[in-house]
Amino acid sequence: MKQKNKVFIATSLDGYIADRNGQIEWLLSIPNPENDDMGYKEFISGIDALIMGRNTFEVVCGFDEWYYEKHVFVLSNSLKAIPEKFRDKATLVKGDLKEVLAKIHEKGFHNLYIDGGKTIQSFLKEDLIDEMTITVIPYLLGGGISLFGDLMETLKFEAVNTKLFLNYIVQNQFVRKI
Ligand SMILES: NC(=O)c1ccc[n+]([C@@H]2O[C@H](COP(=O)([O-])OP(=O)(O)OC[C@H]3O[C@@H](n4cnc5c(N)ncnc54)[C@H](OP(=O)(O)O)[C@@H]3O)[C@@H](O)[C@H]2O)c1
Repeated sequence: MKQKNKVFIATSLDGYIADRNGQIEWLLSIPNPENDDMGYKEFISGIDALIMGRNTFEVVCGFDEWYYEKHVFVLSNSLKAIPEKFRDKATLVKGDLKEVLAKIHEKGFHNLYIDGGKTIQSFLKEDLIDEMTITVIPYLLGGGISLFGDLMETLKFEAVNTKLFLNYIVQNQFVRKI
């Protein structure tokens, strides 16, 4: 079975996934009268489970409703347990990423959605990301939480698709080029 780790994320024009206060309201501030999901449902339909950093998990736990139909694996070294009300939806994982992945694959989850800035960066550090769909909101935030960080080597990706939504938002899809 081919295993894939995929990113589907929105950034500002200057590459931030959250603003200086860790907020993401600006992502939804462009008028979207027909609620175009910009490919999210199609993307998520091809995913078996998510791997999410603890910071992102804490944000989604605060939403009015649980957002995901697929199981969420939460990466954390500090969290002792998943809060009671999310235990059927999320599982705590920690340790070496390749070992974490092997255990998740053993459970039958092969196509994984990797989410959270630090989490994506740590996957990229080990060259463990196969595809990235990056939706760019044309705001310069000037600071915040970055999608990308330092890498020890260049990782080349190939652009396979680009779309314009609402005359504002550009979505680019990349696959890792070996
Ligand atoms: N723009 C978007 O589409 C989008 C999408 C997702 C998230 N966000 C935003 O991004 C922010 C969260 O991103 P973030 O960069 O702060 O953090 P993150 O990746 O969500 O979480 C980082 C945490 O994950 C845990 N972790 C455990 N093992 C790890 C490993 N190997 N690599 C990385 N992390 C590991 C650590 O938690 P412990 O400290 O517990 O060990 C670490 O502090 C939130 O504001 C969220 O709303 C935006």
